[in-house]
Amino acid sequence: MRPYPVQSFANNRELFHKFIVPFVGKFHLDYGCGNGLSTFVLALRSPLSTIVGYDPNPKTLAKAEERLSGTNRFNLIFRNDLREFDYSFGNFDYGGVFDSATANFVFHENPGVISEIYPWLTKTGRICIFDYNLKGVSREEFRRRFDLDNELRVIKGEGFETSYSKHTQFGVEDCVSRGEQAGFITTGTEVFDKHFIWFGEKKAH
Ligand SMILES: C[S@@+](CC[C@H](N)C(=O)[O-])C[C@H]1O[C@@H](n2cnc3c(N)ncnc32)[C@H](O)[C@@H]1O
Repeated sequence: MRPYPVQSFANNRELFHKFIVPFVGKFHLDYGCGNGLSTFVLALRSPLSTIVGYDPNPKTLAKAEERLSGTNRFNLIFRNDLREFDYSFGNFDYGGVFDSATANFVFHENPGVISEIYPWLTKTGRICIFDYNLKGVSREEFRRRFDLDNELRVIKGEGFETSYSKHTQFGVEDCVSRGEQAGFITTGTEVFDKHFIWFGEKKAH
């Protein structure tokens, strides 16, 4: 039996495997990991890496922990507080400890995540943001997708208007500019029908 319902990756599963899985570095932070489903897949696919799944919501994280128990994924831990990884001393900027970080479907909820992630990365750390690229999509078009698309359908509980405004607010350009404002340089951008993936790297000091 599968420990996880991997099929719930629904429409973005292919992109996840093609772009996000290979991005994982030796010490990786999955920021805003939610129920830990995709974090688990990252750990499974990168057995030589150590993955930390972080989410500020303790309830969601409890679900992730529950899923993890009994799966024998020794290279994965979940946390709702990252302070144990804070090795900054006084005013010295040693950078953070993570080689790479992903934030999957967090940016549309909180575009501030990019600057939140910045200090946790090493001085040459890499970041990857995966999210919806539906900015400017009309209500009609969104409704069509909302009804047909598994991924959007699962959030139907929150109502059409809430979901529409939440998912059509930001696009790839916003991510690039937020990333560069935060101090990253853009190393790559992928744009798809509904999604974008942005890759950044800390500017050399
Ligand atoms: C749509 S879920 C995505 C979860 C998971 N990454 C996935 O791909 O299934 C968004 C998650 O972002 C988290 N989140 C929202 N604001 C955040 C922030 N400032 N820092 C970290 N996580 C945040 C929420 O608690 C939620 O679990």
